[in-house]
Amino acid sequence: MMKEFEFRGISEVIATTLSESGEPNAAPIGIISDGNLSARVYTNTQTYANIKATKKMVANIVDDPLLFVLSALMKIPLDEIRMEEGYPALKSAKAWVLFECIIEDSPQCATLNLRPLKKKVLKRPIQPVNRGFNALIEATIYATRYLAMKDQKYLRWIEHCEEIVIKCGGEREKEAMCKLKEFLGIDK
Ligand SMILES: Cc1cc2nc3c(=O)[nH]c(=O)nc-3n(C[C@H](O)[C@H](O)[C@H](O)COP(=O)(O)O)c2cc1C
Repeated sequence: MMKEFEFRGISEVIATTLSESGEPNAAPIGIISDGNLSARVYTNTQTYANIKATKKMVANIVDDPLLFVLSALMKIPLDEIRMEEGYPALKSAKAWVLFECIIEDSPQCATLNLRPLKKKVLKRPIQPVNRGFNALIEATIYATRYLAMKDQKYLRWIEHCEEIVIKCGGEREKEAMCKLKEFLGIDK
């Protein structure tokens, strides 16, 4: 039987987690598929703190560019979140997987070995491949690296991504790019 979806290579998802005090959080992370499923998470993130507390993470398969920018750099609105199996998931996810996380700690970046507990595939419109979306995802990764390392090359790379977003993206990619530039203070 055909699989409904499959993680391959590194798949970019939005991880939703719950803090010890019950607050939901969302942030993009990459799910690594090499026979097993894992993720590498920086230990200075809220995502890591939450997983350390609950040992659970929901991987949301999402194609909304704005949610990637908001969850990476700011906060997503609480009304984007719905509880599933006691953990937060994104309402607009095309599918989600609740994982148990077995943590291998190391000082800066922990490895999470992921064991699927439950998954759901939702009926959502199919999106054709769009270079603007892909460029927006690249730009969002560069934005998080720029914030961490302050290397100017990331700003040049974001500029290149922006050209692709302008040429190939839809309104949602353009809005997400504006938010990203506004957040970095490079919207002049
Ligand atoms: C597409 C994408 C993939 C990312 N993948 C990871 C990852 O695998 N591990 C990680 O620690 N951070 C990753 N990041 C960066 C985090 O999302 C970012 O540091 C975020 O601000 C962490 O938020 P938090 O403190 O709310 O957890 C990624 C960012 C993007 C845009």
